Formats: sequence, structure tokens, C-alpha cells
Amino acid sequence: MYDVNKVMTSRASRRGVLKGGAALGIGTLGLGPLGSRLAAAQAEDKLEIFSWWTSPGESKALQALFDAFTAANPGVEVVNSTVAGGGGVNAKAVLQTRLQGGQPPDSWQTHVGRELVDLYVVPGSCEPITDIYESEGWTDVIPADLVEQATWESEKYSIPVGVHRGNGFFYNKSIMDDNGIEVGDTMSVDEFFAAADTLKAAGIPALAFGNSEGFPGAQTFENTLLGVAGPETYSALFRGETPWDDQAAREAAETYAKMLDYVNEDFSALVWSDAIALVIEGKAGFNSMGDWAYGEVLAKDAQDNIGWVSHPGSDGSFVLVVDSFTLPVGAPHPENARNWIITLGSKEAQEAFNPLKGSIPARTDANRDLFSPYHQWSMDSFSNDALVPSAAHSQATSPAFQQAFYDASTAFVTDKDVDTFLALLADAAAMDAEETS
Ligand code: GAL
Repeated sequence: MYDVNKVMTSRASRRGVLKGGAALGIGTLGLGPLGSRLAAAQAEDKLEIFSWWTSPGESKALQALFDAFTAANPGVEVVNSTVAGGGGVNAKAVLQTRLQGGQPPDSWQTHVGRELVDLYVVPGSCEPITDIYESEGWTDVIPADLVEQATWESEKYSIPVGVHRGNGFFYNKSIMDDNGIEVGDTMSVDEFFAAADTLKAAGIPALAFGNSEGFPGAQTFENTLLGVAGPETYSALFRGETPWDDQAAREAAETYAKMLDYVNEDFSALVWSDAIALVIEGKAGFNSMGDWAYGEVLAKDAQDNIGWVSHPGSDGSFVLVVDSFTLPVGAPHPENARNWIITLGSKEAQEAFNPLKGSIPARTDANRDLFSPYHQWSMDSFSNDALVPSAAHSQATSPAFQQAFYDASTAFVTDKDVDTFLALLADAAAMDAEETS
């Protein structure tokens, strides 16, 4: 469905070669005084991990990774460096400052695809980990498509730890029952609007929404686009092959504008985890979100009352949001950093982390019985459905497109101006095309 290599090859040819230490193979050896500083740092026996996982579900899952690392590496102090903000809205900026100042953590969270390559690999911030893939046999157990998205110019640069399904539509079962709404295995756009009208008449916001951090507005649009236009048009639009004045894009924006008539009024003040909390607490009907929202459901022990379908119309497709971790050039504790990467690719760590996070393992050999019915449903979708990468999480498109997408969506959720929204996306696509040509 999505040819990440096609996009990346064009970037690679533009940039020519890797800049910075990665291209020169600089690790921690042979660096003179810097080398002894790194050795001293290593002697402290720490491991600093950088992420934006701070919500109840996210932090529980992150702790499971730390526990797996500690079990294999007792005595190493794990330093949990987080910068709150869903989708990494704040963390990615802080990380850039650290990288530019030559002070990387020992590993950081990133999505595979364009985010990994554009922000970190091409600028020379990451060491290749191809040798670890080989020694751990990961290419035998991680689907080739995912490995490809962690690869640039034949080298692998991050280990995928979990695969989120971005086009989830979670709902409160008692609200549906109380209002006589039957939700089947799938939901069409029309079925959603029928349910939404019923809830509106009962004074309940049908769609829980929290957009103060910007990414949910973009994510709900990409889910709506997928539901209205289908996976092929979705991919063609984000690849720049179909223009944004296409009729299907317009119809998706109009549908999205209509959906926004059913959201909670305070959406500009809330974050993504507040929105799923509204559904859990019975204050709103549905929430369109990646399945880290299901991590919140699990962390709050609310799974009995929360059901799910794909975002209206998007059944048969799986929006990929793949979390992975890197090995930096100049990691302060290089040996611990390598061991962290090795832990993350292990069956044990992926089986401990993903049941809490809402994602499914990147490895295909995990024991299915350890996972909830939701996870098993997502595993089946991953195996059978069209896989399309998320633009809201910068897998499909560049980080610059992502920012423009956030800005356009944030304006749209308030002004619902379809023409301006599509024009802004067209501008962002043109900027991307110019960048990669
Ligand atoms: C995504 C990330 C998820 C989840 C979410 C909300 O970008 O892939 O793991 O953390 O942001 O913070």
C-alpha cells in the first residue's frame, strides 16, 4: 500500500550522504578526551531513556520496558526522562535542542518512517543497529514492511517495540445501551451520524475530542479521510500523487466538519487522554484515537464497559503508528544503550509492554494468549487489512508536512473552512514535493 522506500530514496539522493558521526562510524571509541568523558559516564552505570510517555497507560507500559531491561541488566540505574505532550509535541522540540547541543540521552522514542529518517538518521544523530538485528535474528520475526521503515540506505536504525492502530473508535457501552444504539462489528459514516443525532438529542456529546496539543485534530481527519476515501486514495494523497482538491478529500473534510458538530465544547482545553477519559466516565459516546487510548482504558480497568470498532468507514484498513527506539551517536552510556535496544527487541519485553500500551508487538511470534480481546482483534486486522501509515504521526509524510497538517487542522476544528483547509494541505504537499525533488 505504502512504499516508504520510494519516498526515502528520493530524500537520500537529495541529501547524498549522511552528515555527522554516523556516516563516519564514530561511536565512543577513539574520541580522545571526549572518549574518557564517555567512559566516565559509562562508569556511572546509568541508562537515560527519553520519551513522551506520561499518561497512566503510557507510563505503566514504559515501566514494563524498564523492568525488562533491569531484569537483564541488574545494577544499571534507569533514568526516565519524559517530556509530557501527546504525539511528542513538546518532547521532539526538547530532543532537538539536546541533539544540537551534543547531549543526547541513551535512547529516544521515535516513529519509524519519515520521522526517524528525516529528523534523526539523515542529520547523523543515530548509529546503525544492523549488527544487532543480525545477532538477535530480528528480521526473522519482525515483518519486512516494518523493518523497511526502520531502514535507510541498507542500514537499520531503530527497533520497533509496538504497533499502534491509529484508526480506533472506542465507545461507552452503557451510553449506547441506555440510548438504544446498537453498535455492530463495524460502523459506517451514516451509522455514526444516526447514533450521534440520538446522543445529541439526549444532551450527550457523541464525539469526545481533546485538541489542545494539536495532533488529535490531524489524526481524526486522517481517520475520516481513510473512512471516506479508502486506503488507496488516502495513500495517494499523502504521497503527493493525488492533489488535495480531489473530490474525495473534499468529501472527507466536509464529513469531518459535520462530525465536529457533535464534540464536547471544551475540546480546545483538553488533551487526548482527557477525551478517552470522557468516554470511560460516561460523559461522551465515542472517541476516535490510536489505541494508546485503549492503554488508558486498561490502566483504568474500564475494559468491561468500553467497546470498539474502526473509525467510521475505515474497517479493512489499519493506520500504522509504530513506536521504536534509537541508538544515538555519542550515547553517554553506549553499552547500556545497546543492551536497551537488545531488550526492546526481545519477545519478553514486547509481551510485557504491549498488553499495557494498547499496541501489538512488532514481533510476530508473541504469545497471543497474553493479550486482551482488543489486542487480538488488532492483531487480526494487522494480518489481514490494508496497512497505511499515519501522517499525523509523521510516518507517511515529512515532519514539516506534519506541522503544517497540525496547524491546518487546529484552525479547521474551529472555523470548519473546507476550502482553506484543503488549500493549506495542498501547500504543505507542494512544499514536501519541492524538498524531495
Ligand atoms: C503517539 C505514540 C503513541 C502515544 C501517542 C500519544 O505518537 O506513537 O505511543 O504515546 O503518541 O502520546
